[in-house]
Amino acid sequence: MEPYSDNNDGLLQARELLARSQRVAAFSGAGLSAESGLATFRDPDPDALWSRFDPTELASVDAFEANPERVIEWYNWRRSMLAGVRPNAAHRVLAAQSRMIQITQNVDNLLEQAGVAPKQVYHLHGSILHDICHNSACDYRELVQLENPSPLRDCPRCGARLRPAVVWFGENLPAKTWYRAQQLCAELDCLLVVGTSATVYPAAGLITLARQYGSSVIVVDPNAGEARYAADIYLAGAAGRILPPLLAGLDLASNP
Ligand code: APR
Repeated sequence: MEPYSDNNDGLLQARELLARSQRVAAFSGAGLSAESGLATFRDPDPDALWSRFDPTELASVDAFEANPERVIEWYNWRRSMLAGVRPNAAHRVLAAQSRMIQITQNVDNLLEQAGVAPKQVYHLHGSILHDICHNSACDYRELVQLENPSPLRDCPRCGARLRPAVVWFGENLPAKTWYRAQQLCAELDCLLVVGTSATVYPAAGLITLARQYGSSVIVVDPNAGEARYAADIYLAGAAGRILPPLLAGLDLASNP
């Protein structure tokens, strides 16, 4: 795959592919929010979250049940990071494609802040902006104050503990959102993959699923990760640098 650079035609090929695609969706990961200042999970740099923290101690039901204070503190630290950042150019140009659905693994709301209608964003791994009740039989949910999130507390409805509304390792993805994401990816002409290591399943399986149903795949990422094996066109570079020229003047839709 010819990697993108300022002087090759990878970008032009990708623009032509998008322009002739009737049904396009974006599938994103932490790399989309990297230029806003939010750490990714697996980047080869010391700030990457899984370089600094052990996911088994912070992002699983066992971790929460073993030490709920530590888990809530860590997510409240991530919330304070999100409170201080804004969408970057990549979020903004994706938001300008108002008819295109955004399937994202990200738990931030930077796509919505950039102007994407909430119903156009499929959050496969939930939302760090909300707390839910840890008792699966209780549907209590509340918006969290990012600037001043509450410490560990109990559900006002049933008394069980409240926890971030994110999908932890080993948990199922939100059923309806996951079904709709699979259904959409089975009907695409082109899937635009932005900033994901494509190593966490089942979400990463959407790339293969889209290809199996005949979709082309464009990958935008400075590091050629797992997604490149499914890419028709791999554009090597930061989302904030590549997406503006890639999408300029196009009018993409997921359900024309
Ligand atoms: N533009 C585009 N891509 C970027 C940028 C950037 N500016 N900076 C980094 N990337 C790429 C990295 O090269 C990497 O391929 O973003 C990807 C980030 O990969 P991860 O850190 O693994 O994040 P992600 O793929 O979203 O992780 C998936 O893992 O821990 C779980 O639930 C968590 O949703 C997350 C899931």
